[in-house]
Amino acid sequence: MKHVVLTGFMAVGKTAVGRRLAKRLGYDFVDTDQLIEQQAGMTIAQMFERLGEAEFRERERRVIEDLELSTPTVIATGGGTFVDEANRKRLKQLGVVVCLVTSLETILERVGRNEARPLARGDARKRLVEMYERRKPAYSKADVLVETEGLTVEQAVSRVSAMIAAHLKGNATEVSGS
Ligand code: S3P
Repeated sequence: MKHVVLTGFMAVGKTAVGRRLAKRLGYDFVDTDQLIEQQAGMTIAQMFERLGEAEFRERERRVIEDLELSTPTVIATGGGTFVDEANRKRLKQLGVVVCLVTSLETILERVGRNEARPLARGDARKRLVEMYERRKPAYSKADVLVETEGLTVEQAVSRVSAMIAAHLKGNATEVSGS
């Protein structure tokens, strides 16, 4: 295996879990949303406001396409990244794709406390519920789906590591139920 890619809906913990997972595996860590922000010199919320979502998606695609990784890396992506077919293809080539899964209730509760996500601003409940359903088929194309509901970051990292190991041995389903 080369790299580990983390996907999943907004607020499932991709960045927090990714950072700790990288530490545990001795891998580097990169967050593609942060790369987009660094390159643009503005936050994603500002980018949505000033340039619009279409421009954000364009930049997101470019960042994924241009990723240059010289050492094994854990890559945390944005919630919409893996939904795009070109991104999906590229991310799958980079290594094992892990989708973190938590309940919609937990997601709604977390995004409600954070203004940094433009797609979750205001009275977003209905929009997010629809988006969650619409994106499920794309997320299910990940190599491994890991349920992290109720887990601490450390527990989630342990489960993700175990699931990746099982996937690489070809028996991921056995661990997923544990
Ligand atoms: C988005 C999720 C965000 C960020 C952008 C769009 C999405 O990342 O990429 O606001 O389309 O779901 P997180 O999943 O880290 O919140």
